[in-house]
Amino acid sequence: MPDSALYRCALVTGATSGIGKAVVLALRDAGLQVIAVGRSPEALAELRAEPGVVVVEADVRQADAFNEVLAQYPVDVLVNNAGVLSTRAAFQEMDPAEIDNMFDINLKAPLHLTRKVVPGMIERGHGHLFFIGSSAGRAPHPGAAVYGASKAGISLFCDALRCDLLGSGVRVTEIAPGRVQTQLYKTAMGMQAAGAELYDGYESIMPEDIATLLLAALSLPQQVDVSRLEVFPTSQAVGGGRMVKTLG
Ligand SMILES: NC(=O)c1ccc[n+]([C@@H]2O[C@H](COP(=O)([O-])OP(=O)(O)OC[C@H]3O[C@@H](n4cnc5c(N)ncnc54)[C@H](OP(=O)(O)O)[C@@H]3O)[C@@H](O)[C@H]2O)c1
Repeated sequence: MPDSALYRCALVTGATSGIGKAVVLALRDAGLQVIAVGRSPEALAELRAEPGVVVVEADVRQADAFNEVLAQYPVDVLVNNAGVLSTRAAFQEMDPAEIDNMFDINLKAPLHLTRKVVPGMIERGHGHLFFIGSSAGRAPHPGAAVYGASKAGISLFCDALRCDLLGSGVRVTEIAPGRVQTQLYKTAMGMQAAGAELYDGYESIMPEDIATLLLAALSLPQQVDVSRLEVFPTSQAVGGGRMVKTLG
């Protein structure tokens, strides 16, 4: 269990679905007050009914939308989880607007929110910043050039942030999963196709497994900082290369 003297209040983005929702419930069950941030009004209404959960309807791209709640709650644990993989098109075929969309949500928004939260953590002498990265930020995945670049940015940011925060008592953990069974592919390919291609017949990681890992890192003694957790389904490996012959 996390140290209840240090870790009392958590803010989780992307709380309406998948990993974020599982993390909200796991942190709440571990005794923390949880601020759940999301967009979907129906999913937020469900979360609002949960004891120990405060709901904030906000788009993570609007950093100032967090000012009010941050003034009210001293956040000890920030989980930067909201993210999108809005297309699986090859880079040369993707809508240019998707480049900005994925960078704004996956990379810029966590940085701006962290910038708002971290001074309070430094002042209090403790805090834990979590970032949900991706295996796509650590190795190339076809159809994920921009998504992967946004997650690679998160990964290096975490390493550099740990340097800047050294001595502050604030911990930084990146969790970089392979395939987790969630709604992530809803826009890129639709959930039915995602089920047939990605999930049916495989044993993926479940969102609750990521929540268990996060809670384990948070529960370690204060002098222990898990800097990166890379986690795959047992039936997934990444790597290898593809070659084609040049014609003509
Ligand atoms: N699933 C995987 O295989 C996998 C693997 C590696 C990493 N990840 C990462 O895990 C994180 C969580 O994704 P997931 O797999 O749990 O997918 P998910 O089920 O689609 O959840 C994504 C969450 O992010 C929220 N979100 C997206 N854009 C937002 C915005 N602009 N403002 C506020 N909230 C926003 C979504 O809410 P609304 O749609 O309601 O806005 C949703 O709650 C992401 O960062 C993803 O890149 C997932």
